[in-house]
Amino acid sequence: MARTTIEDLFIHELSDVYSAEKQITKALPRLARASTNPTLAEAFKSHLEETQGQIERIDQIVEITGFKLKRMKCVAMEGLVEESKELLDEIEKGEVLDAALIGACQKVEHYEIASYGTLIAMAKHLGKDDVAALLTATLAEEKGADEKLSAIAEQGGNQAATLTKKKA
Ligand SMILES: [Fe+2]
Ligand SMILES: [Fe+2]
Repeated sequence: MARTTIEDLFIHELSDVYSAEKQITKALPRLARASTNPTLAEAFKSHLEETQGQIERIDQIVEITGFKLKRMKCVAMEGLVEESKELLDEIEKGEVLDAALIGACQKVEHYEIASYGTLIAMAKHLGKDDVAALLTATLAEEKGADEKLSAIAEQGGNQAATLTKKKA
C-alpha cells in the first residue's frame, strides 16, 4: 500500500514496531541466559514481560482503530538482534559480555523510543488521543528500561569490564 497520508504512514510504522517487539520477545530470553550479572538477567526478564504487554497494547490499538497491520519485518530490529547474537558468539560469558549486552539492548531501547515518539506524534495529529495514551504508556516503559540498564552499567557492569580490560 502506498503511503500517501499520515494514516498510511502511522499504519506502516505501527506494523514495523509490532514486528520489532515480536523479534525482541525472541531475543530477550537469550540475552537473559547469557548474562552473568543476576540483576541484568532480571532486567531482561522483566522487560520481556513488559514487551508482551506492549504487544497487547498494539493489539488494542488495532481494535480501537480498525487499522489493518501489514505483515512486514522490521529490518532495523533484525540488524540489532543480529548484532547481539554476534556478541554471544564472539565474547566469553562474564563481565565484558554483560557490558556488551547492556549496550546492545540500549540500542534496541533507543530505536523503540524513537519509534514510539513518532507514533505518538502521528496519533495526536490524527486526533486519536486514546491511541496516543496507549503508546505513551509503552514509551514510558522503554525509557524506564533504558534507565535501568544505565544504572546497572554504572553499578558495576561496565566498571568491571573496564577493570578486566586494564588487567589484560
Ligand atoms: Fe518494546
Ligand atoms: Fe524495549
